[in-house]
Amino acid sequence: MLLNPGSAQEIAPVKLNPRQTQQFERDGYLFFPNLFRPDEIKLLVDEVPRLYAQRRPENVREKGSDAVRTNFAAHMYSTPFAKLARHPRMVEPIVQLFGEELYMHQFKINGKMAFDGDVWQWHQDYGTWKNDDLMPDARAMNVAIFLDEVNEFNGPLMLIPGSHKLGVIEADHDTLTTSYPLWTINHDTIRKLVERGGIVAPKGPPGSMILFHSCLVHASTSNLSPWNRVSVYLSLCAVSNHIRRFKRPGYIAHRDFTPLKCLPDDCLLAHYDVPLPWRDATPPEELHGELKAA
Ligand code: SIN
Ligand code: MN
Repeated sequence: MLLNPGSAQEIAPVKLNPRQTQQFERDGYLFFPNLFRPDEIKLLVDEVPRLYAQRRPENVREKGSDAVRTNFAAHMYSTPFAKLARHPRMVEPIVQLFGEELYMHQFKINGKMAFDGDVWQWHQDYGTWKNDDLMPDARAMNVAIFLDEVNEFNGPLMLIPGSHKLGVIEADHDTLTTSYPLWTINHDTIRKLVERGGIVAPKGPPGSMILFHSCLVHASTSNLSPWNRVSVYLSLCAVSNHIRRFKRPGYIAHRDFTPLKCLPDDCLLAHYDVPLPWRDATPPEELHGELKAA
């Protein structure tokens, strides 16, 4: 079956075959080059400068620079990104892998801007979600969608295949290296993991997507090239595995566990109404963490 029968370039729906599900279990990631078409990606790319220009707490800037390192929760106040959050080509393979409905745990647009984009040290995401957010299990998936081409020069995401099988690895809280504190894994451990699994860095045109396990160890170098590497990073969690603690602000770790309802496959190009509850402002209660149990 082909989707968008009227469109010039037709894209098959993402239904993972047994080889892909085995590959995900073995390596901890799957790469889908050109999953979104240039006309679809353009709508997202064109929206980014407006989002990055806003002075709102969701924009975290690089250390010593005004370049945006990451923008949080755009799906709550931007129509194209609210549609992307409900896109079946992104959501359905994850529902297939988890066998359950999903909610959006975290939504970021990472800048990694030309010359200014700083490193993301070696880390796993689930360690933070477990320790800070009390997410019970690693039943949340990371997704990277390229808005710019990712090449060997602009800080591609590096993954250590198979590292997801080790569960949560000991990490230290690095509050100094970049503007965004991260639980990072020490170099001796990384050396051992890389001896075992190597490093891959999926590269490709805008519109490519990586799905990766929330325990997969990953990092990226700084971007010294003249090319931006803007990518959307989404984390979708199985609804039954929702976080139990609201220690971090709601715009970083979402507190609404309503299952995502997919829009049709043409949603980026066609008109669909999407809720934009934070369009005018972020609700004050979402700006701060609270230590109360959820
Ligand atoms: C992340 O790990 O959340 C981001 C990594 C990157 O943007 O390279
Ligand atoms: Mn990460």
